[in-house]
Amino acid sequence: MSASAPTRVERFLPNAQATEALGETLGRLLEAHDLVVLTGALGAGKTTLVRGLARGLQSPSHVRSASFAWVQEYRGRLAIVHLDLYRLTDIAQLGGIGWEEYVERAGVMVVEWGERAQGVLPAERWEVELSTEGEGRRAEVRAFGPRPSGRLPLLSRGGP
Ligand SMILES: Nc1ncnc2c1ncn2[C@@H]1O[C@H](COP(=O)(O)OP(=O)(O)OP(=O)(O)O)[C@@H](O)[C@H]1O
Ligand SMILES: [Mg+2]
Repeated sequence: MSASAPTRVERFLPNAQATEALGETLGRLLEAHDLVVLTGALGAGKTTLVRGLARGLQSPSHVRSASFAWVQEYRGRLAIVHLDLYRLTDIAQLGGIGWEEYVERAGVMVVEWGERAQGVLPAERWEVELSTEGEGRRAEVRAFGPRPSGRLPLLSRGGP
């Protein structure tokens, strides 16, 4: 394996509680400046995962689908910025929602439909790809860059 190859953890998630639990485990090991990109079709479970992630970051905030607001912010062990790029039609629109400012902030950023920001995504990031499998979902978590990659083994062990 080359040094730049991303590492990955795969999980079958039989129900929404399992999606939340994976998000919670990931949330527990996030650090300042972490970016989490969520990909997967409509209804794949992205917002459900964010709900768990916020819990793992000790957030008291209520996580809702961000689709109508583009951006929602939650309190927690680290400040959380929740973006939903479902309605993004042109990468230039990212400027208007303050993408750069959010990326530079010290908290955690989690982005639904994050693949729509391809080209401007920081090299160091987490990616969670969700897909339907039977009645449940399959998740593939990938870590890119040394900081996330170093913590991926913790995720595979069920978190810190
Ligand atoms: N592992 C799972 N197994 C079965 N159902 C699940 C699972 N995870 C989430 N769900 C359910 O899938 C539905 C859609 O979830 P959610 O809103 O999180 O998806 P989404 O990817 O955010 O959708 P959108 O593309 O509209 O933003 C919800 O009813 C949720 O409870
Ligand atoms: Mg959603």
